[in-house]
Amino acid sequence: MPIIYHDILALQAALRPYRSEQQIALVPTMGNLHEGHLELVKIAKQHADIVVVSIFVNPTQFGAGEDFDSYPRTLDADVAKLASVDTDYVFAPSVAEMYELLPPPTIISAGAITTELCGKSRPTHFDGVGIVVSKLFNIVQPDAAIFGQKDYQQLAIIKQLVRDLSYPIDIIAAPIVRAPDGLALSSRNQYLSPSEREIAPILHQELQSLAQQIIAESYSEKGLSVLVAQSRERLSKAGFIIDYLEVKTTQLDKVSANNKQDLIILAAAWLGRARLLDNQLVVAG
Ligand code: PAJ
Repeated sequence: MPIIYHDILALQAALRPYRSEQQIALVPTMGNLHEGHLELVKIAKQHADIVVVSIFVNPTQFGAGEDFDSYPRTLDADVAKLASVDTDYVFAPSVAEMYELLPPPTIISAGAITTELCGKSRPTHFDGVGIVVSKLFNIVQPDAAIFGQKDYQQLAIIKQLVRDLSYPIDIIAAPIVRAPDGLALSSRNQYLSPSEREIAPILHQELQSLAQQIIAESYSEKGLSVLVAQSRERLSKAGFIIDYLEVKTTQLDKVSANNKQDLIILAAAWLGRARLLDNQLVVAG
């Protein structure tokens, strides 16, 4: 079983003896763990001797009216799952342990990248992610940290944070883990009613077919906007309320004549109470 710490100082004391000889990896989570999270832990194990999983529903990344209060908190079940993948330590702090003041007066913002895609409808979200991830990096001081590609924009922001703040941490990207029908696993999928759960995989199917169509149209820029508009229409008809559906370069730049290869389709769409997030690389072959 992993050892659970709720206090920063106790966790740091436990990790201190390992620091000189062994590699430490951190997997930050908000708990309510599923196979996607456990895959991150397995990858962490391949890169380090000691794996720390943090479980913290971070208030600063939830906007007013979002699901901070109702976000599922399932620590005992999470710890049991983490035991099955050989996690060494769980760090599960209280809000008071992490934040003396809310909102914290210090702001960690990764700039322009935080205002597009998810940032348009969640304007304070990525600053909240920025500060909590910075704090976790400073608390755990890992050699590596693992993040899922499902949250592609979050991953890009963390890579930038690490560059800009010179964190000596390797950021390792983990592929998206999906249900057999293609729906990307997410703690928020449990907000779906049974009938919504049947519709939900259409999002992934639509992104896959849009990727194929972009390739078939030879990445033509004009074709791109028409294809995206058609995709939006099909998703709306299926019952999704689209937050965004955009094609970007894999660096999250705007697509232009000069960089029309290496593309990624990114989407966020509401289905009932659940905001589903997914993305699909546009890869020929
Ligand atoms: P959470 O949503 O719990 O996700 C924790 C990590 O698991 C993230 O890196 C996320 O990308 C990854 N993940 C979630 N679902 C996945 C899936 N289906 N396949 C692969 N990876 C998946 O993301 C957060 O928490 C928070 O913003 C956090 C980084 C912990 C900061 O509070």
